[in-house]
Amino acid sequence: PLVSTGELVSAAQARGHGVAAFNVITLEHAEAIATGAERAGAPAILQVSENAVKFHGGRLTAIAAAAAAVARTSSAPLALHLDHVESVDLLHRAHDEGFGSVMFDASKLAYEDNVRATAEAVAWGHERGIWIEAELGKVGGKEGEAPLDAHAPGVRTDPAEAAAYVAATGVDALAVAVGSSHAMTERTAALDHELIGRLRDAVPVPLVLHGSSGVPDDEIRRAVASSGMVKINVGTALNTAFTGAVRAHLAENTTGVDPRKYIAPGREAMAATVAGFLALMG
Ligand code: G3H
Ligand code: ZN
Repeated sequence: PLVSTGELVSAAQARGHGVAAFNVITLEHAEAIATGAERAGAPAILQVSENAVKFHGGRLTAIAAAAAAVARTSSAPLALHLDHVESVDLLHRAHDEGFGSVMFDASKLAYEDNVRATAEAVAWGHERGIWIEAELGKVGGKEGEAPLDAHAPGVRTDPAEAAAYVAATGVDALAVAVGSSHAMTERTAALDHELIGRLRDAVPVPLVLHGSSGVPDDEIRRAVASSGMVKINVGTALNTAFTGAVRAHLAENTTGVDPRKYIAPGREAMAATVAGFLALMG
């Protein structure tokens, strides 16, 4: 069934568990997330990023409707989230397109501008019952960005600033920079668990880990079970699995043309990856 991100995150936090959010680029991503969640017997969040909407030529309605239909017809509880939204116009379409939550990303702006833009997004969202996540600090590695050194101290989220930011904006959840970076294809990131613990103690809303594809299993388990991370965002790992399986199929099958023949193993590899991450949520 289609549920809301807010209810999944609150329920996970109350139990000391995590809830994983997976990026949807194609219909097959949504299908794989549903299959993985059904196999794991766990809920999950289907998230569509602003970049994915751009990939579909701006056809938000089409990809949102596909993801929502997959959620409604699944036996697993699945929520629909709009991710890394920088465009206020796109934010304002979220409600009509069936999204119960949005990550409004003003992290590229200076602190005061980030606060002002995010507070406006929160006011808009809360009038409509939409749960709003925001980012403070730079996780880095997003499309079109030079990779950041995730271990440079300047890019980490400061706990006192994070507490002030949440108070000033009213956000429902906060994405923090604690050692992960977007778009990693190897799982070599080292999280700063001491900082995550300090953020959890200083910040009254659930914390979100972005760039979780690059974080090893045991680090994710620890971040959820003892450090206090609640929403765990995974994108690239699905694409690594999909592309690897498609490549392997095509290397062995050099004459066929039916895309279903190679998309099916790609989709299955994504479902297995989803189930693997869901097993870390507690
Ligand atoms: O918002 C999406 C996530 O942060 C995904 O990051 O592709 O590095 O796993 P990732
Ligand atoms: Zn992200």
